[in-house]
Amino acid sequence: MATARKQRIFKTDRRIRLGIWGLGRGLSFFKACHDLNVDVVAGCDFNEHMRRRFAELVPEAFVTDKAEDFLNHDMDAVLVSTFCPAHAGDALAALQAGKHVLSEVTAFHTMAEGVQLVEAVERSGLVYNMTENYPWNPNHAWCARKWAEGLFGDFMYAECNYVHNCRTLVYTYIDGVPVMPGDRLHNWRSWLNFHYYNTHSLGPVMVITGTRPTRVVSLPSPVHLPGYPEKGPDGMGGIAPSLITMDNGGIVRNLMGSTTNDSYAYRLWGTRGAIEIDWRMGGMFLRLGGGGESPRIRIEPKGDRLAELARSMGHGGGDFYVLYFFAREILTGEPAFFDVYRSADCTIPGILAYRSAVENGRPFDVPDFRKKRERDKWRNDHSAQPHLDPDKSVFPRGADPAVAQRFDAVMKALIHRADLTRAWLDWSSVADVATDVAPIVAVGDKLIAEHREVVNTLRAARELANAYPRALGARLLNEVLDLAGEKAVLADGFLRRVRSQSRRLKRRAATK
Ligand SMILES: NC(=O)c1ccc[n+]([C@@H]2O[C@H](COP(=O)([O-])OP(=O)(O)OC[C@H]3O[C@@H](n4cnc5c(N)ncnc54)[C@H](O)[C@@H]3O)[C@@H](O)[C@H]2O)c1
Repeated sequence: MATARKQRIFKTDRRIRLGIWGLGRGLSFFKACHDLNVDVVAGCDFNEHMRRRFAELVPEAFVTDKAEDFLNHDMDAVLVSTFCPAHAGDALAALQAGKHVLSEVTAFHTMAEGVQLVEAVERSGLVYNMTENYPWNPNHAWCARKWAEGLFGDFMYAECNYVHNCRTLVYTYIDGVPVMPGDRLHNWRSWLNFHYYNTHSLGPVMVITGTRPTRVVSLPSPVHLPGYPEKGPDGMGGIAPSLITMDNGGIVRNLMGSTTNDSYAYRLWGTRGAIEIDWRMGGMFLRLGGGGESPRIRIEPKGDRLAELARSMGHGGGDFYVLYFFAREILTGEPAFFDVYRSADCTIPGILAYRSAVENGRPFDVPDFRKKRERDKWRNDHSAQPHLDPDKSVFPRGADPAVAQRFDAVMKALIHRADLTRAWLDWSSVADVATDVAPIVAVGDKLIAEHREVVNTLRAARELANAYPRALGARLLNEVLDLAGEKAVLADGFLRRVRSQSRRLKRRAATK
């Protein structure tokens, strides 16, 4: 940080007074604020523990749980980091209060909200940006520059993945604290279909290739992971793939969802060259030379002069850059990539992909909200995903609160234990064909060390599930107990068998 301060990013002493609305993810932007001429002067959150954490970080800032008091505070800009489906409404309120807006992804939840948001930004003359941060790590940003220079030719096809099994977040806030009251589900991570959360995969392709989506289609996929509340093509906990035509005719296969192999990978094909980015598979590779078998080499772009400072922040520097672009637009007028129109371009294919899937694969044109004529077609389209009521208990009315409100904490622990026991049960069953048994040995060691807690968690979950057996809470507990292999893990002699299998695996590892 010390080196960066010396290099002075903007040639002005003007400072931006920023309020943060939603103090979970909203606090990720802190580190860079000072260097980007941003002073955090206010914070707002319903959650007491989040307000406390914020007050420790910025004791001089105004902090409240009341949106009205927050918006009336003397400040220039608001970071909207509230519940995902509420972003448009909250951004509109902030614009109305005369504040520039940096909105978390995604920009809006319904097409009608999108129209309202675009027109409110146009009327206000204020800066609106969306914090789509995945395109701005040094690799994506380098690719975008080289794509614009013509290195990869015309865009043909891309496959991009934002596959993230975030099952515990159905039951906790982002800081791991169980949802309160403890018998409720997370406000939106308990139901929002993954199609809606499409910007981390589509955003980088838009930035790298400079194209915008024009048409989208998707098929329903009703298979879900256990431990997610909503089943069927609605709901969270399954996969959400769509095909998107871009304005040059190229196609994107955009995959979001929650399944058993997280993936944040991007593969792009142009007429002259191709890009593959996957950190789990060794980084970024280019195939240059215009042919299918052309040389394929790993590259390491250095990043621009801000890269070192950016790296100290989350998401490979992406969090730094979205704040940088926002401050730059306010201070100098230079526009950010994700202005309100591109935020709409990126958000709409998610909304319409969900629609397409529930309408069994009906294709939708992606309107261009820069044009009033196209906005008019969607102005009154309020349709949104039907969903469970997250403010309702997962146990019946009249359930003993002392019992029911243990639910989220038990679920959180149960999911962690199930990750461990299932990994052991399944990997130990095929260890004979594994080329490297060290990770299986590590799972076994952890299971032996935590065995007592594992048993206690499974018993607590069983007791809670049996207390109200027909409730949604019981169904969720039973699904994860089944995933955890409850019967096998609680059977006599389980620990003894883990120990002896683990010893055999260690001997095998030592003889290699
Ligand atoms: N860009 C990224 O990499 C990234 C990563 C995580 C989350 N996000 C986005 O950031 C947003 C926030 O994420 P989160 O993980 O903190 O989720 P969250 O939904 O759990 O947190 C939102 C916070 O805002 C508070 N809140 C909501 N509405 C409020 C209101 N009207 N007044 C006061 N407080 C209010 C809630 O109490 C909660 O603490 C989400 O919409 C998510 O889409 C983006």
